[in-house]
Amino acid sequence: MKILALNGSPRKGGNTEILLEETLKGVKEQGGEVTVYNLNSLTLRPCQHCGGCDATGRCVIQDDMQAIHKDVRTSDRIIIASPIFFFSVSAQTKMVIDRCQAFWAEKYVHKKPVPPGPFGRKGLLLLVGGMKQNEKNQGYLCAEATTRAFFRTVNVQEHLTLAYDHVDEKEAIRKHPTALKEVYEAGRKLAQ
Ligand SMILES: Cc1cc2nc3c(=O)[nH]c(=O)nc-3n(C[C@H](O)[C@H](O)[C@H](O)COP(=O)(O)O)c2cc1C
Repeated sequence: MKILALNGSPRKGGNTEILLEETLKGVKEQGGEVTVYNLNSLTLRPCQHCGGCDATGRCVIQDDMQAIHKDVRTSDRIIIASPIFFFSVSAQTKMVIDRCQAFWAEKYVHKKPVPPGPFGRKGLLLLVGGMKQNEKNQGYLCAEATTRAFFRTVNVQEHLTLAYDHVDEKEAIRKHPTALKEVYEAGRKLAQ
């Protein structure tokens, strides 16, 4: 089973990375082949809405996204881990999601959705935010809606979301009473 993990936090050793590492411990216990991208360290341009993908279903911009596209296409499980920034996913995460417009063109214009593969396709969204749940929990809702649209576009039929609020300082997630255990378990289940 191939597992793709996208870390959308720019803070090295921060809460998102810790959550993702713990998740991947669970995944690896099941023996999957894991690929992790730390999005902040890649060379990526935002979608230019150039229409290039409408013609072929493939993105015409040549940068590190080509490798991510390949892994999005061939992975059985996709994990997105992001901090909440201004009530949504981080810019690094959103840029990758927008660049998956090529999958939208492939699915809806060319009628060729990504094939489900031998294990079906499942997703996991990990979110961490510094604020206490407030304003009707908009950070979570916006990030969840954006990622749901991404998963649907790349033909991931079901996903679980684990979100942690009131976690702001670097490494504060280590003091959370349940988070590390929960994401470890989620990783284990995801790769089963
Ligand atoms: C630019 C920026 C915007 C942020 N906006 C929000 C927000 O809207 N809601 C929230 O709960 N936390 C917000 N935060 C706090 C982060 O989500 C929080 O510190 C999180 O733990 C960071 O995760 P990391 O350690 O993986 O970077 C923001 C932080 C930054 C730097």
